[in-house]
Amino acid sequence: MDFGPALSEIRTIITEAPREAPDRVVELLHDRFPHYDWVGIYWVEDRELVLGPWKGPAATEHTRIPIGKGVCGAAAASGRTEIVPDVSKDPRYLACFASTRSEIVVPIRAGTRVIGEIDIDGRDLDAFGTLDRMFLEAVAALLSTLWPVIPETPTIPHPAGHAALAGNS
Ligand code: SME
Repeated sequence: MDFGPALSEIRTIITEAPREAPDRVVELLHDRFPHYDWVGIYWVEDRELVLGPWKGPAATEHTRIPIGKGVCGAAAASGRTEIVPDVSKDPRYLACFASTRSEIVVPIRAGTRVIGEIDIDGRDLDAFGTLDRMFLEAVAALLSTLWPVIPETPTIPHPAGHAALAGNS
């Protein structure tokens, strides 16, 4: 898995095109890594996670998740990465897609605050391991350097999913 080159590209995107970076990072993660079936970024607004850019086969109904609810809300509350190897065995799991069997959620932190998170669903059991965690935590650290650019970017879910990406490039 080419985590190193992807990380370099993400670093370049964030440095050279910070306003487009969340959309482009989501697109890169989804397109580059076949086991990242659905990739989204949620931003923290007040006590809620609000879905930002995403790319995957279908839209999720969970466009707003209270902090503390679901796997996403748990990661936002603790500030720690959550890896769920089998979503059917985790009572916290909020179902989005029938095809999802595992999930990883990586908080994006600015200092001690959680400002957002990367959420990735996988179609295989146990799809995410230590390397995914290390890579995605590095990606989250890069995304956190966008602060305070991030609050100025739209956080309203794209009605057509990643279609908005086309307009950015
Ligand atoms: N499964 C998540 C909800 C978000 S969807 O996966 C896109 C959760 O349990 O919080």
